[in-house]
Amino acid sequence: MLQAHNIVKSFTTDTTTNVLKGVTIDIQQGDFTCIVGRSGSGKSTMLNILSTLLRPNSGNVVYNGLDLGKVSVNKINKIRQNDFSVIFQSFHLFPYLSVLENVLLPYLSEVTPVSKKSRAHAMQIIERVGLKGKEDRLPGKLSGGEQQRVSIARALVKQPKILFADEPTGSLDIKTGKDIIELLKELNSEGLTIVMVTHALEYTSYADTVIEMKDGQICGEIHEIAGSA
Ligand SMILES: Nc1ncnc2c1ncn2[C@@H]1O[C@H](COP(=O)(O)OP(=O)(O)OP(=O)(O)O)[C@@H](O)[C@H]1O
Ligand SMILES: [Mg+2]
Repeated sequence: MLQAHNIVKSFTTDTTTNVLKGVTIDIQQGDFTCIVGRSGSGKSTMLNILSTLLRPNSGNVVYNGLDLGKVSVNKINKIRQNDFSVIFQSFHLFPYLSVLENVLLPYLSEVTPVSKKSRAHAMQIIERVGLKGKEDRLPGKLSGGEQQRVSIARALVKQPKILFADEPTGSLDIKTGKDIIELLKELNSEGLTIVMVTHALEYTSYADTVIEMKDGQICGEIHEIAGSA
């Protein structure tokens, strides 16, 4: 579904850091893929290249047969809008918007007011992530886990094909983090393809494929872990 071939990425500030040194990853449709590795190994950079937030220096990213380095900006924007969603360790919610308004944000790129249908759909997703009855609250009145649920709901509202998650449990306690991973696993079993970067090795038991990165390269890949949670 999504392949990255021989990705090289460096950042130049005063000096040049070679962050990715030829990374090849194949994301299968319907899979829950975990990318693990030590801090600084290049996990977030790789995730951002897969989700098109960053461009590689060389190598290509191919989505459903389409080389994303060669398509128009318009086409990439369409894919970002319709097919890809991203969630982060910090939830990036708007503090002055309610849960429902935060979840409706992806619709605000449209000129017309949000339709009743979109609102109803957003309410369904809010219920799906376990926040029914909290749609009028401001994020500041929610726990960390609930805030991450809002960011997941916002990521889901446009019914993406792939959800990219960078340390989605990174600022949550162990129990709350596990609840979030279980929600992601449920969404995955309903058909959503997930690519998640995590430090927490215990979550790799939820994954179909675990990719380990070290110093800008892949040093291990495990498929189809038997008896995954
Ligand atoms: N925009 C940037 N400019 C310069 N260097 C960068 C930039 N982004 C990342 N780096 C460097 O690239 C390396 C890999 O960063 P990356 O964020 O991909 O690591 P990571 O594996 O996600 O680490 P962590 O687990 O700490 O989040 C680090 O040495 C980092 O300092
Ligand atoms: Mg990171």
